[in-house]
Amino acid sequence: VQLITVRLKAREECYEIKIGEGLLSSLGHEARACLGPKARRVAVVSNPTVFGLFEKHAGQSLQAAGFTVRPWLMPDGERYKSLRTLGRLLSFLSDAGFERSDAIVALGGGVVGDLAGFAAATYMRGVALINGPTTLLAQIDASVGGKTGVNTPSGKNLVGAFHQPRLVLIDTSTLSTLPRRELTSGWCEAVKQGAIGSRTLFDQTCEFLSSIDFSLWSKEGATQTEVYATQLAEIIAAHCRFKASMVVRDEKEDVARADHCSRRILNFGHTVAHALETVTNYRRFRHGEAVGYGMLVAGDISKSLGILAASELELLRAAVRLCGRLPRADDIELSEIVRALARDKKVVEGTIKWVLLERIGRARIVDGREIDPRVLRSSLRAGLQRLS
Ligand SMILES: NC(=O)c1ccc[n+]([C@@H]2O[C@H](COP(=O)([O-])OP(=O)(O)OC[C@H]3O[C@@H](n4cnc5c(N)ncnc54)[C@H](O)[C@@H]3O)[C@@H](O)[C@H]2O)c1
Repeated sequence: VQLITVRLKAREECYEIKIGEGLLSSLGHEARACLGPKARRVAVVSNPTVFGLFEKHAGQSLQAAGFTVRPWLMPDGERYKSLRTLGRLLSFLSDAGFERSDAIVALGGGVVGDLAGFAAATYMRGVALINGPTTLLAQIDASVGGKTGVNTPSGKNLVGAFHQPRLVLIDTSTLSTLPRRELTSGWCEAVKQGAIGSRTLFDQTCEFLSSIDFSLWSKEGATQTEVYATQLAEIIAAHCRFKASMVVRDEKEDVARADHCSRRILNFGHTVAHALETVTNYRRFRHGEAVGYGMLVAGDISKSLGILAASELELLRAAVRLCGRLPRADDIELSEIVRALARDKKVVEGTIKWVLLERIGRARIVDGREIDPRVLRSSLRAGLQRLS
């Protein structure tokens, strides 16, 4: 088991991230250890897909530790990460008489985690949250850092709160049922974390990716992952350590910061990714897949501005290729993407703040006014090309 302790400087708080195979069976014991003897009830927030797969391990373990378990399932899908679903969950908690000493367990991907986390942040002004992420993206990214929230008709993640979990329990064996595209999406985010975080993390990720036999994953999931168990836990731990280090340095994403340690650099690849998702009505790409292309466009802009060497961009391209096949993007009208970019919520005071690269392992935030529209178009063209 890999163990990471996250210490938040601003408050004297800390929590643990535990990573290993089969950890869901010790959820009850771990929850009891961090919640203490007073906690009586836990609401297990999940969706039918995930709950059907892991209910047994999680539920039995919680019961064995003396908790009364109340499952609450939301429909599967990003569009249910909404205020309406949140309202239903909050009503459930109050109707069931949940108290401040009780807790919420989020069992699922980033959608479940964000919604359950926001409910935990707001119900009775805050109850304990335990994250049990079951997608790669949620394990290396969404479950660490305390960002919670929901989408509104005006945009993604527009309403939310910072609410740190009390424990993050990552059971790597849950990834064996993950559909291949979800896996690719998660690996793209991993490449992103390496690209902005450190050359070591980037190389470690690429090395692991080169060793994966993606053919083991069908549309429904993998048939065997045992061979990867140890390495998988190690690479996930490395990414959690990186994410936690970013959070500790800039817990609430200070808007005034634009240095290379600002939490904002986690948005590398996201400016173009959001535009791609918008112009394809969120139907063509999984989020991480769009980030894969977004990184290549941002990388190409960085090269055109003379801040990134061509050889580094090639490394980035090779890394994205290792994540698995991406849906094509070279048939999307460039002017539509440019229009969507201009509307993005990350536009600050009228300009986009681009996260670019100086080298693998070091990001730089650049004001959109410094990027010639012709450079943007040619980088879009280059970055959105099909990856062989
Ligand atoms: N809070 C943060 O810091 C943060 C960071 C990144 C992303 N996010 C959010 O995360 C969300 C995306 O998360 P996601 O990519 O995990 O998507 P998701 O939660 O929609 O999960 C993807 C799909 O996989 C299924 N699934 C989950 N675990 C499974 C398993 N083990 N086996 C089989 N199927 C499984 C889900 O039911 C779903 O259909 C977005 O809403 C995004 O905004 C939040």
